[in-house]
Amino acid sequence: MQPIKPHSDYTYKQEFAVQFTYPVHFTHGAFEINNPHLLSVITAGQTISHPKVLVFVDSGVAALVPQIESFFRACAATVQLVQPPYIIIGGEQAKNDSENWQRVMGVLADCKMDRQNYVIAVGGGSVLDMVGFVASVVHRGIRLIRMPTTVLAQNDAGIGVKNSMNALGAKNFIGTFTPPYAVINDAALLATLHEDDWRGGIAEAIKVALIKDLNFFDFIETHANELKARNLAVMEELVRRCAVLHLEHIRTQGDPFEYGSSRPLDFGHWSAHRLEVMSEYTLRHGQAVAIGIALDSCYALHKQLIVSAELQRVLRCLENCGLPVWHPLLEKKDAQGGYALLQGLEQFREHLGGRLCITLPAPLGRQTEVHAMDYNLIIAAINFLKSELK
Ligand SMILES: NC(=O)c1ccc[n+]([C@@H]2O[C@H](COP(=O)([O-])OP(=O)(O)OC[C@H]3O[C@@H](n4cnc5c(N)ncnc54)[C@H](O)[C@@H]3O)[C@@H](O)[C@H]2O)c1
Ligand SMILES: [Zn+2]
Repeated sequence: MQPIKPHSDYTYKQEFAVQFTYPVHFTHGAFEINNPHLLSVITAGQTISHPKVLVFVDSGVAALVPQIESFFRACAATVQLVQPPYIIIGGEQAKNDSENWQRVMGVLADCKMDRQNYVIAVGGGSVLDMVGFVASVVHRGIRLIRMPTTVLAQNDAGIGVKNSMNALGAKNFIGTFTPPYAVINDAALLATLHEDDWRGGIAEAIKVALIKDLNFFDFIETHANELKARNLAVMEELVRRCAVLHLEHIRTQGDPFEYGSSRPLDFGHWSAHRLEVMSEYTLRHGQAVAIGIALDSCYALHKQLIVSAELQRVLRCLENCGLPVWHPLLEKKDAQGGYALLQGLEQFREHLGGRLCITLPAPLGRQTEVHAMDYNLIIAAINFLKSELK
């Protein structure tokens, strides 16, 4: 018999990998009765007969409700819509107000949704982030089908693995990394967007093009006027190319859940997030990102990572797409007389943890990471940007 070793230490290495797979469909008229995508998504992974479906709809697309109801009436033999679609007031407020997610959680509880049932979130990035957050924590994760309805949500926010809420005065302070069950991008829904939301999503596409794909930047630059004039065919191409770059990034860069302190897709975002908070969210995310791209491109010029002609291309492309490159809050001073914007750098570092990591273009279409930002050069970049205004 083995003698018992008193007070011994043991360490076992537990290790396993989990494969995540989700389809991202691009279509038109996803709730038309003959459109196959939504039903095929539900039936493909169905584990029980007649699963429950609960739909949350952004108020910006509330007009879809009758169509959603007739869609589910038509497939009532396969799935059950457990209650009429639940409307959520769209926009950043959806993420700001903690009562929102508690309400959504209450609806899930009332409808006795379990892990084999489906939550469908139809809306902009804010509603998707909030409903996605709740779906990811109730019963430790209910199947979430995202149906993004803004440009930004279709090419960025709605196709990735993150969900979040704003809390304690900080953007995305709480959240989860939980991939969706499926994503369905319906281009037809973009037609009703407010001008600012139509243009805002273009900023995210410019961002990813500038650090990953110069051909894509050429495409946006060439079609800037059509994009501004709301050409849906051009926008569809922009959304799809941008979404594919995002999906590739998440799939191939080795850190889908952002365990490291680097977030290469967040070019222009340290100041964008700060400007959103400083403006009390009156500045939309996409417009804030456009200004953040302009500022960090000026900084990149000062750091000799790009040349003047490249900076001019960036600024003109943003402007030609109808995006801002300046906001007076860039110059706002805090109580100590410093630039209030600069607090955004530490907040950005804190959000990711570890050391500061900022992505800059070097040259256009490729990226570099820096781990310190020179405050004097940021201020010089702010002044330079102001001097560039027409
Ligand atoms: N989870 C992520 O990975 C991720 C990535 C990027 C951004 N985000 C988040 O996404 C949010 C921004 O999302 P957004 O830009 O989609 O804006 P949004 O969700 O705030 O919506 C903007 C406005 O558009 C309305 N709307 C939505 N779809 C519409 C349509 N088809 N027609 C008419 N009006 C419509 C909404 O009601 C709202 O008033 C931010 O909170 C940002 O932090 C998340
Ligand atoms: Zn963004």
